[in-house]
Amino acid sequence: MNIINLVLTLTIIGSTAGTNESEHRFPDDFILGAATSAYQIEGAWNVSNRGESIWDRMIHYKPQKIADRSNGDIADNSYYQYKEDIELIQQIGANAYRISLSWPRILPNGFNNSVNREGIQYYNNVIDEMLEKNITPFVTIYHWDLPQKLQDLGGWENPEISNWFVDYARVVFSEFGDRVKHWITINEPNIFCIFGYHSTDAPGLDKSGRGDYTCGHNALLTHAKTYKMYQDEFKNQQGKLGFVLSFSWVVPQNPDDPEEVAGAKLSWQFWYSWFLHPIFSNEGDYPREMKERIANYSSIQGFSRSRLPQFTENEITLVKNSADYLGFNFYTARYETKLTDYDINNVSFQHDIGMIPIDKAFTKDRCTPWAMSKAMRHINKEFIIPEFYITENGYWDVGGLNDVNRAEYYLLHLTEVTKLLNEGLNIRGYFAWSLLDNFEWSYGYTQKFGIISVNFMDPKRARTPKLSSKLITQIYKSKIVPLSFSTTINITTI
Ligand code: NOJ
Repeated sequence: MNIINLVLTLTIIGSTAGTNESEHRFPDDFILGAATSAYQIEGAWNVSNRGESIWDRMIHYKPQKIADRSNGDIADNSYYQYKEDIELIQQIGANAYRISLSWPRILPNGFNNSVNREGIQYYNNVIDEMLEKNITPFVTIYHWDLPQKLQDLGGWENPEISNWFVDYARVVFSEFGDRVKHWITINEPNIFCIFGYHSTDAPGLDKSGRGDYTCGHNALLTHAKTYKMYQDEFKNQQGKLGFVLSFSWVVPQNPDDPEEVAGAKLSWQFWYSWFLHPIFSNEGDYPREMKERIANYSSIQGFSRSRLPQFTENEITLVKNSADYLGFNFYTARYETKLTDYDINNVSFQHDIGMIPIDKAFTKDRCTPWAMSKAMRHINKEFIIPEFYITENGYWDVGGLNDVNRAEYYLLHLTEVTKLLNEGLNIRGYFAWSLLDNFEWSYGYTQKFGIISVNFMDPKRARTPKLSSKLITQIYKSKIVPLSFSTTINITTI
């Protein structure tokens, strides 16, 4: 048997024809970081009094919901290896690290009558470790791992959730707010509210067209009440509170069909303006077309009121302007086509829109930096956004260290970010998703997003930088996006 070791030089070309590198530079105080979330990396799911979350419950009882029947019980073991993670953050030249707090690790039953000191200690250690290394913490208060005890009471469908959350947030601000100045209240409600009530994500309920709108409504009010509480009680901490949504640009599969073009616009409203409009528009409240459409369908379907809950005037005012920044998560363009099997009695979010995403678009070409720019420019034009942070951007593959496609993805997207900055968009920072390969929700470990690989067969969860992390390191350290990127790769064949 012959083992051949090849060393290849590889060059990735950016999209920068006719420009020079000085045009692709980030300001000195620009945030360049990487992101993770508690359930996806921490593991230690039943250690030190941590309570059960809705993801623990769903996966332990219905492992078939996850592509490889895996779970986050151990994940990246970051509960024990967080120092190594922060060391890696430093090595890639990042000046910030976005993490999330696990609600059931801090309040095992969900309520603030019993605060778990070990959970508080863990996050104090993580935050202090970051600060010692001059890494700015960006902390998400809620990244999908609701305490199961609160789900038992209705979870995001129960309006009381806003009080439970405010109580939890108060604990968090009191404990960590002296050191954490960049907060995210809730991560991607437009994803967990849709998929959590469309049976794929936790809590795994089948209530599309009802549960999702109620969840979204309560998430908006929860965010706004938390924002107000911070202003009233913690203003002296001088932090900023943001709200993070998942974004894309909706592309009609048949651009010559006017109905489909209109459908794509409507779809953008449903997926994104649903949450943007109440917070970041002059008028506040949900977008008019969305309200009318759901009210109309609800009435045809025999409901005595719209399936989309209504805000009171006071609530509209409370929600409006309730964020210091918008966290913009972006992965890829969304191709959609008309729903052909439309049935008026089918109550669902998708039927309310009348459009459906085309799956193959997600596997075909997922590197669409133009779609990121289109979405950002549109938001910048239509809404009043105090500041943008790109809180997630990334590319999935099935694993491996020579992640050329991911490197190309980052080269093209980071170039695009510098172009948007040159156009005058107020973008303050950028986070790659993700620092590490980790537990990708219903895809388990079948989709890898890390710029650092993690060996899930190894009890020590060995971390190894991938090719893409070399590119990221160069950019983060120099604050310049190169026109092209060359590196050597080792290939061993038998
Ligand atoms: C958005 C979510 O915030 C994150 O948890 C997830 O892993 C990435 N997108 C990739 O799908």
